[in-house]
Amino acid sequence: RFEKIWLILSSALIIGFMLVTGYQAFALGMAPPSHQEILDPQKVDETAPFDNPGVKKIGENEYEVVMTLQIFSFTPAEIEVPAGSTVHFIMTSKDVVHGFQVAGTNLNTMVMPGYIQKATQKFDKPGEYLVLCNEYCGAGHQFMSTTITVK
Ligand code: CUA
Repeated sequence: RFEKIWLILSSALIIGFMLVTGYQAFALGMAPPSHQEILDPQKVDETAPFDNPGVKKIGENEYEVVMTLQIFSFTPAEIEVPAGSTVHFIMTSKDVVHGFQVAGTNLNTMVMPGYIQKATQKFDKPGEYLVLCNEYCGAGHQFMSTTITVK
C-alpha cells in the first residue's frame, strides 16, 4: 500500500515538473524580447541590411555595425572604431543560435536565426576587445571569435 502511495506521489512530482518546464518554454516562446524583429533565416543574404554587412558611420562618434553570425564566424570579421564611439549592432544568425559577448563590456546577447538582435555599446577605452560566441553552436564553437579594435 505504501508503495502505491509513493508511486502516485512521485508520478505527481514528475508531472508537476513537466508542467513547469513546459510552461516556461511556452512563455519564453510566446514572448520574445520586444526589440527583436522577425526575418527569414534562409534569405539573410538577400535581406536588407544583412545583404551588406559592415561598419558604417552614422553620426558624430556613432557607428552602425550590421553583422551576421554563422558557424563558426562573425561577418564582418574586422571591426574598427575610434575611441569614444557609440556602436549600434544589428545582428542575426544564418543558421543556429549563437552568442555575442564582448569581453570587458556588459554586452552579452543571444543571436537567433529568424530574429534581428539589436544592441548598443559605447567604447571609451582604446584596445582590442575580444568577441566570443557564448552559445554552444557545434564542433567549432570554441573557435568562433573575433575582435573589435578601438583606436
Ligand atoms: Cu557560435 Cu558558439
